[in-house]
Amino acid sequence: MSLKEKLALKARPINDALEKYLKIREPKKLYKASAHIPLAGGKRLRPVMALITCEMVGGDSKKAIPFAAALETIHNFTLVHDDVMDDDDLRHGVDACHTVYGLSTAILAGDTLFAYAFEMIADSDIEDSIKADLVKNVAYIVRKIAEGQQMDINFEEEETVETKEYLEMIRLKTSILFGAAAYGGAKIGGTTEEEARELEQMATNVGLGFQIWDDYLDATASEEILGKPSGSDIRQGKRTLLVIEALNKADDKERKKLIQILDSENTDEDVREAVKIIDECGALEECHRQANGYLDGARKTLSKYPEGEARELFEELLEYMVTRGH
Ligand code: IPE
Ligand code: IPE
Ligand code: MG
Ligand code: MG
Ligand code: MG
Repeated sequence: MSLKEKLALKARPINDALEKYLKIREPKKLYKASAHIPLAGGKRLRPVMALITCEMVGGDSKKAIPFAAALETIHNFTLVHDDVMDDDDLRHGVDACHTVYGLSTAILAGDTLFAYAFEMIADSDIEDSIKADLVKNVAYIVRKIAEGQQMDINFEEEETVETKEYLEMIRLKTSILFGAAAYGGAKIGGTTEEEARELEQMATNVGLGFQIWDDYLDATASEEILGKPSGSDIRQGKRTLLVIEALNKADDKERKKLIQILDSENTDEDVREAVKIIDECGALEECHRQANGYLDGARKTLSKYPEGEARELFEELLEYMVTRGH
């Protein structure tokens, strides 16, 4: 079985839970808008990670299904709002939520998906003390995601951003949700707080590689592969690691050209030129190297767990996170 097939199999109970919760009710427009993006597709990486972590520590992953599905509604809530902020009109291979239903309904659909997450966690068949811990943790990370998304938007207006600042921004907007998946899966699986925190740390680290890789794909992969627009980061003037590295590596003339493209309205030709500058100065290659570098520590942590199906799938999942679409 290919990794894609294995992931799809693991995601099946998540999809069932999502379909059960995301029923169309009145007012229909709100509930259709809420279901639009989560039911259109997505790789389900975060919930699958939660289930595998639960299994790897010896737990029964059935108990983790509502929590895992909650992570996916959180993720989709952030996608619906992210497409408004990034002015993107394609997601999961379909028109973005705000494109189909309008801005006001997209805001409400995001809110609805956010709220569903807490209903799902509350419905979980897990110990009350673990439930309370997970509710607090999920609420906390959503606030942190908002901080990261605000930093991402602030950076669009800045000429230079330090690598350190970029890494903190992606840790907040992307990585810690992976961390929460591993942490929650481990806690539901019955492991100690200490071990759950170690797995959280590992997943958070790989999440950094995941976002660097997502930035890389944004510049290099097609819309068909991504199911979302290609070149969007450059059009929006995002200060991704590709840009930070290119501004450090490129010569004066290219640096000026890149900044000019990032900071103005640009055509497809401009976007291609920016990617060419980023590629030719070695920034693409450097980001590829850095994304993959986050796997090393993760492999070491995982090697402490008993060999078996869960550990193997976890290793494959982490590798997929920083190599997908290539
Ligand atoms: C997209 O994440 C948003 C980022 C944090 C880069 P995914 O690539 O996991 O989104 P899906 O699989 O399309 O839902
Ligand atoms: C998104 O980062 C992070 C969140 C949704 C919180 P991006 O803006 O890079 O995600 P994509 O590329 O639109 O999926
Ligand atoms: Mg964004
Ligand atoms: Mg975006
Ligand atoms: Mg992106």
